[in-house]
Amino acid sequence: MRVLDLIKTRYSVRTFDTKPVPKEDLDYILECARLAPSACNKQPWEIKVIQGEALKEFSAVYRKEGFKDAPVCIAVCGNHTQSWHRGDDKDHCDIDIAIVSDHIIMAATELGLGTCWICSFNTDIAKDFLKLPENVEPIVLIPIGYANEPAREKIRKPLEETTSFIG
Ligand SMILES: Cc1cc2nc3c(=O)[nH]c(=O)nc-3n(C[C@H](O)[C@H](O)[C@H](O)COP(=O)(O)O)c2cc1C
Repeated sequence: MRVLDLIKTRYSVRTFDTKPVPKEDLDYILECARLAPSACNKQPWEIKVIQGEALKEFSAVYRKEGFKDAPVCIAVCGNHTQSWHRGDDKDHCDIDIAIVSDHIIMAATELGLGTCWICSFNTDIAKDFLKLPENVEPIVLIPIGYANEPAREKIRKPLEETTSFIG
């Protein structure tokens, strides 16, 4: 599939079927995550794959009906001690976590699986559940499973509103 077609295919899935995700699909998704680029190649991520009974317990972090039906949830966590900090001390952790998250999401899309970016979760519950040290932050949750809702039309700003050509 061409990248543009893959991008057009992805949409936020918030209602999932309980059908399991095949192990080989999960392995493929995790390999796509592993190969993500990062600032100074620091790879400051910790990827937690949560499934089964553990996921039932973990679903307290985000109390939305459809979320708990997804058979897999990946918590993408950022290690702020490992991440690259620029000379002005800007921490690039969030950028690296966004890239690895997008690799996960696009790989899942290619395999016909639904996903959703979730950032509005309870971080205290997530940190406790995942037993994360102070320097590791849970940044993105990605439920993965088969969509139980149809694709929607994409609503986006026109190119001219966000993009300018210089030179
Ligand atoms: C960084 C980020 C955080 C998001 N957090 C949430 C969230 O907590 N809950 C949710 O339902 N959707 C969340 N979304 C999904 C957006 O609402 C969605 O991507 C946007 O409305 C465009 O719709 P589409 O993904 O179907 O194209 C998030 C998206 C991004 C990129």
